[in-house]
Amino acid sequence: MKILVVGSGAREHTIIKALRRDPEEHEILAAPGNAGISADADIVALDPSNPKVVTEFAATSDVDLVIIGPEAPLVAGVGNALRKAGVAVFGPDKEAAALEGSKSFAKEIMAAAEVPTGKAWTVSSEKELRDALATAGAPYVVKADGLAAGKGVLVTEDKDAAIEHASFYLQHGDVLVEEFLDGPEVSLFFVSDGNRIVPLTPAQDYKRAFDDDEGPNTGGMGAYSPLPWLEDNFVETVTTTIAQPVVDELASRGTPFIGLLYCGLIITDKGIKVIEFNARFGDPETQVVLARLESPLAPLLYAAATEMLDSVEAPRFSDECALTVVLASEGYPENPITGREIEGLNSLPENPRVSIAHAATAWDGSDLLATGGRVMSVIATGPTFAAARESAYATLESITLEGSHYRRDIALRVTS
Ligand code: AMP
Ligand code: GLY
Repeated sequence: MKILVVGSGAREHTIIKALRRDPEEHEILAAPGNAGISADADIVALDPSNPKVVTEFAATSDVDLVIIGPEAPLVAGVGNALRKAGVAVFGPDKEAAALEGSKSFAKEIMAAAEVPTGKAWTVSSEKELRDALATAGAPYVVKADGLAAGKGVLVTEDKDAAIEHASFYLQHGDVLVEEFLDGPEVSLFFVSDGNRIVPLTPAQDYKRAFDDDEGPNTGGMGAYSPLPWLEDNFVETVTTTIAQPVVDELASRGTPFIGLLYCGLIITDKGIKVIEFNARFGDPETQVVLARLESPLAPLLYAAATEMLDSVEAPRFSDECALTVVLASEGYPENPITGREIEGLNSLPENPRVSIAHAATAWDGSDLLATGGRVMSVIATGPTFAAARESAYATLESITLEGSHYRRDIALRVTS
């Protein structure tokens, strides 16, 4: 198959590496990709969020399948334009991607589909904000309604901090005040063809910047899979009470969800509740989910894109323990310092169970530079989490990037 992967992060690099493991050999293009991706795919320099440009390229290059990685192109309507041009695309139209692009829309869908989630109040002024915070009570949860790259959410006991955070986002649009949900978080992805869905495998993300869940929220600093502590029927419960009803609701509105439905869940003492949906593979969770995938990836995503999910085998996953650790630039997430050189990648310890996914890297002559906040992920598998951790952290110690930081407690407290 000739496959175009849209995006430039570690998620896209991971998807490309997984496609390369398929029994069938694919021709893979990445737009716009990054320095690491250029070793695994042909780079196409185009604006990934421009529907016209992406569609023209895909249609004239005989691409069989487009996989859209990030949320911005989805919300910008790249999926719509490709589908309209008759190109098979894995990634929903913008109407269905609004599940991620607008938290208030997601709440509306969940209410209509009777999906369990926290109570929420959509506010558009400071007066409404103060009233909602008084009703919700501490700890306060405030969220920007639109896309904010994982930085729009603040959970705090401090009402003034909640007001300050919300006031910033109120300048740009609505804000949600949400009931605080207490319990462990799980990410579970579903591949959807608009009607049928199949679950992938649960993963847990580490959202805070520093060890022991200290510091600000980030896009994700690490993840692991499987989750040995989950109840046996977890996947089935989420499938029947959350993912399928949401997909059915969107289909009944004439805006089917064709792509990856990311369910961000909290297991509360009153059951599993949704904290967010995303309309694309999660990053970094994808690194550990796909590290355990044993069945081919391209046929699965192609079957979803062509609305024939019943024609492929259900995804299969190994029992291996997988974890990923994100190496971040100094100052991430607030003010990452970019442009510094990354060294050590050529002399890493030999280990077939370790791989590296580049997130924000570029070549400057023969120097590899960090160009963003999350720079790369080190992914390791092993028979136990302890073994996988040893491999991942040995590799991280060999990589040098001035001022960089990574969490040292990924999968530390998981027993396998
Ligand atoms: P979101 O972008 O909605 O996933 O939120 C980012 C992070 O904030 C989540 O992964 C949670 O750790 C936290 N969070 C969001 N909503 C809630 C909530 N209602 N209660 C508790 N924590 C939350
Ligand atoms: N890791 C969280 C996300 O992809 O949104």
